[in-house]
Amino acid sequence: MEGKGPLLSREIPSAGKVYTLTVEEEDLSRLYPGMVRFTLRLASGGNTLGIFRTNSYEYSPTVPLGAEQAVRQKAAEWERALEKDPGRFLASLEKPPAAAPPGEGVDALIIQGSPRPDGNCSILAGWAAEETAAMGKKPRVVFLDDLVLHPCIGCYQCYNTGSCTFEDDMTGLIRALRSVRVLVICTPVYTNTVPGGLKIFIDRCQAFHAEKSLFHPAGGKGGILLSVAGRTGMGNFTCVKKVVASFMRNLGIRVAGEVLIDRIDGIRDVRTLPGLREEIGDLVREAFRD
Ligand SMILES: Cc1cc2nc3c(=O)[nH]c(=O)nc-3n(C[C@H](O)[C@H](O)[C@H](O)COP(=O)(O)O)c2cc1C
Repeated sequence: MEGKGPLLSREIPSAGKVYTLTVEEEDLSRLYPGMVRFTLRLASGGNTLGIFRTNSYEYSPTVPLGAEQAVRQKAAEWERALEKDPGRFLASLEKPPAAAPPGEGVDALIIQGSPRPDGNCSILAGWAAEETAAMGKKPRVVFLDDLVLHPCIGCYQCYNTGSCTFEDDMTGLIRALRSVRVLVICTPVYTNTVPGGLKIFIDRCQAFHAEKSLFHPAGGKGGILLSVAGRTGMGNFTCVKKVVASFMRNLGIRVAGEVLIDRIDGIRDVRTLPGLREEIGDLVREAFRD
C-alpha cells in the first residue's frame, strides 16, 4: 500500500464470526512501468486466513480482463463462499508464506553456462570453486546443460507468489541464490551473446526478482563474469557484458569484476595462459571482501 486506503474493505458476518475482506493496491512501477499488484486478504481476529494476488502484467493485450476486475471478482466469489459454508471455504484456502523460504547455505554459486562440459568455461568454473573452498567458503558449481530448465513464459505470476509456476531444477538454483554472497557466471560467447541455456537461467531468475519484491531480503551480493570468445578483440564481449551486467543489476547484485578471454579458438586451452588462474582467484577473494 502506498499512501492510499484499501480499494475495498468489507466485514462479513458468518457462523457467529466476523471476517474482513480487503483489497489493497500496490504501485510496482519501480519494478516495471505501470505495474500494479492487487492483494485480496481475508482476515479474522487479526489473523490472515487467505491471500489472493494478481498484477496488471498478467493480462496480455488480447485478454478481455484486467487485474482490478479480476481481484474484485475474486473478492465477490470469496464473500459468497464464506456466507454459504465458511468451514469448507476456509479449509480450501492456502496460507501464503510470510517470508521467503530458506536458502541453501552456499556461499558462491558458480554457473557454468557452456554446453561443453569439458571446455574452457568448465576450467574457469573449477578455478572459481577452488578459490572459494580455499577461503573456507562453500562453492556450488552448476553445469546448466545437466539441468531441466523450462524457458520463462512471461506469465508474471511470480510477482503474486514469489515463485515460478514451473517446478523444475530452477527451484534449487533459486534456493542457492538466496544465501550466496558471490555469483559467478562463466559463459562462452555464442553468436555474440550468451548460449541459450544460460539465457533461460537468466530469464527464469525473474522469479527471484519477484520474490525480492514480496519479501525484501537484505542485499550484499557480488557478481563476477568470466567469459571466453573464439575471435580476437574485446568487442566480441559487448553483448555478453550487457546481458550479464543488466541481469545482475536487476537482482541487486553488485558487479565485482570480470575476466574476458578472447582468441580462445586459437589458444584452445585457458590453462596455457600465464597468470589467469591467479587473476580469477584475486577476483573471487575481492568479491567476498566487499
Ligand atoms: C554456436 C557457437 C557460436 C559461437 N559464436 C561466437 C561468436 O559470436 N564470437 C566469438 O568470438 N566466438 C564464438 N564462438 C566460439 C566460442 O566462444 C569458443 O569456442 C569458446 O571457447 C567456447 O567455450 P567453451 O570452451 O567453454 O565451450 C562460438 C561457438 C559456438 C559453438
